[in-house]
Amino acid sequence: MKKEGKQAIKIAVFNQKGGVAKTTTVFNMAGILAKSGSKVLVVDVDSQANVSTSLLMENMAEYDEKHGTVGQMLDDVMTLKDIIEIPSRINDAIIKAKISIRDGYAPKWRGIDVIPANSKLQDLRVEDMDDDDSLYAIRDALSMIKRTRKHAYDYDYILFDLPPHLGELSVAVLAATDHILVPATVDSYSMNGYGELMDTVESIRSMGLNPDLDIIGVFFTMIQPLQKYDRTMYQDVREQLGDVFIDTPIRSNSNAKLAAHFGCPLCWLKRTAGVTQDYIAVTEETLRRCGVLEAGEHLPGLGDNIDPGALSRRLAE
Ligand SMILES: Nc1ncnc2c1ncn2[C@@H]1O[C@H](COP(=O)(O)OP(=O)(O)OP(=O)(O)O)[C@@H](O)[C@H]1O
Ligand SMILES: [Mg+2]
Repeated sequence: MKKEGKQAIKIAVFNQKGGVAKTTTVFNMAGILAKSGSKVLVVDVDSQANVSTSLLMENMAEYDEKHGTVGQMLDDVMTLKDIIEIPSRINDAIIKAKISIRDGYAPKWRGIDVIPANSKLQDLRVEDMDDDDSLYAIRDALSMIKRTRKHAYDYDYILFDLPPHLGELSVAVLAATDHILVPATVDSYSMNGYGELMDTVESIRSMGLNPDLDIIGVFFTMIQPLQKYDRTMYQDVREQLGDVFIDTPIRSNSNAKLAAHFGCPLCWLKRTAGVTQDYIAVTEETLRRCGVLEAGEHLPGLGDNIDPGALSRRLAE
């Protein structure tokens, strides 16, 4: 596995459409990357704070116990809002996620750090971000992480969980990221969203905000392989999108909800489940496209994978 230099690979998981599994993807991909030995920073860009709530569940429980509060930790954290104002604050905003992988195991840090979100992110106004400095603030802040190693690490990957709309904050993230990874659901509207996304990427490139921004892949989530409609959509969209389409989809399975509920990514909670294997396959394909994994190479530490092509072959029939 190539890990050149120590530049973190930045991936924004984005689709302007809501409820397509952006957060579920960030949560589980962070787990897979950390379990295979990488250091991962998850940046929550969504005021719904879903990925913060799942990844920081144990941190929040500890906070409540210490302060005699109920679910209050996220009210008191620093978020991207603080970082946009003063980028160097990034080092104080990072929280080490403690994850409990099983009953009876003490929660511990497993390689995932989080810049959390809270509802105050909603208050970011256009006026707060209408100059070039704020559009580049996230990019600048990320480059300041290395300077204070006391608090934070050199990350291998930075994953952004974006909200389902394109506000100024999302634009600032797209100005800072290397790649966009696009989860989509199997419905006739999902490709409309993709057209919009391509327009967005094109204008970010042409404005010079991030000339190298690319869409690294589009993949289906919550697919039901036994449904004829899902199979037809899969085949049509695969043909329509060509190379940008990632053949392995994520199946619909309640373990995905369970993992978020327990605050424990699938690779630890349900290592051998089909939906876990799907997420491993999508993560590995993403890393191949980033040039980190060679063709046929797999991430270490995740147990024997299985046959990642099985579901896509079934859908292609
Ligand atoms: N593979 C899956 N199988 C079953 N349920 C899933 C799967 N992936 C995601 N879900 C569920 O679908 C819902 C939406 O997922 P998620 O919150 O990740 O989407 P999102 O794109 O982040 O939404 P938003 O646009 O609101 O941020 C959640 O309830 C989640 O648990
Ligand atoms: Mg979300």
